[in-house]
Amino acid sequence: MSVSEKLLVCLLSPALLIVTAQVSPIQVSGLITQSVSLAPTEHLAHPVEDVTWYYASNRIKFRIADFRNQQLSIQHSQFSQRLEVDNSGTRLWIRELRSEDTGSYTAAIVRQGTGQTVDLTFTLTVYEPVPYPEIKMEKVWITPDWCNFTLHCSAPTKSSALSYSWMYRHKERYQPYTNGTTIHVSLQPESWDGEYLCFIHNPADQKNVSISLQTICNDNSIRKSTTGGYNSRSVL
Ligand SMILES: *[C@@H]1O[C@H](CO)[C@@H](O)[C@H](O)[C@H]1NC(C)=O
Ligand SMILES: *[C@@H]1O[C@H](CO)[C@@H](O)[C@H](O)[C@H]1NC(C)=O
Ligand SMILES: *[C@@H]1O[C@H](CO)[C@@H](O)[C@H](O)[C@H]1NC(C)=O
Repeated sequence: MSVSEKLLVCLLSPALLIVTAQVSPIQVSGLITQSVSLAPTEHLAHPVEDVTWYYASNRIKFRIADFRNQQLSIQHSQFSQRLEVDNSGTRLWIRELRSEDTGSYTAAIVRQGTGQTVDLTFTLTVYEPVPYPEIKMEKVWITPDWCNFTLHCSAPTKSSALSYSWMYRHKERYQPYTNGTTIHVSLQPESWDGEYLCFIHNPADQKNVSISLQTICNDNSIRKSTTGGYNSRSVL
């Protein structure tokens, strides 16, 4: 068999689904109070007889729901009235997410006829919404040819799951800028009517705030006070 034939056999074989699912759980992110669905990333080739869903946290594993005869029955009080299924029980919806729902989920899917079971594992992480960031202008140097400044973006939180990125927007066009909390920018006058946006994100949520360059680069009071030197102040 050639490599591509082998690959084709692998892709057609339902066994691959079992193997990949066991090796690496499917990562899912959810936002507290919102809904999330856990579902196979690949099509399941065989009709499904029944599905049992398990939840594990701190190495304790609970059976949380059974799907049999087209009926879902919820088996664990933590999830009462918060679970739904579709796709023959292979996709689980969890509503009104709580932080304690973070953990590992397994769907034990029994195939019709064969009695064979496929285990699919998911790792769900429930995140808090990210707060609105705040942009501070730290330094500005303005000459007739250049507007150079430093912007610092921060958020009132200690969460370590956050990352920061920036975009420059000019006439409805967005352009990614350097990642990170602080950016140094040098702009010539034709770009002074744009704005910078700071985005703060975790895997489940993002927020942005923007600062107009008009307020930085065309501010006459700053221009006067910065002639021959620099000035620093905060915006927002
Ligand atoms: C910023 O970080 C994201 C991942 O968080 C990455 O995909 C992107 O390429 C980065 N952009 C820049 C300009 O470094
Ligand atoms: C602003 O930045 C440009 C490009 O980096 C540089 O050539 C210029 O000297 C800077 N101007 C001031 C006033 O710092
Ligand atoms: C920035 O946030 C606002 C809501 O504050 C949102 O409407 C807008 O779509 C966001 N911009 C981008 C580019 O995501």
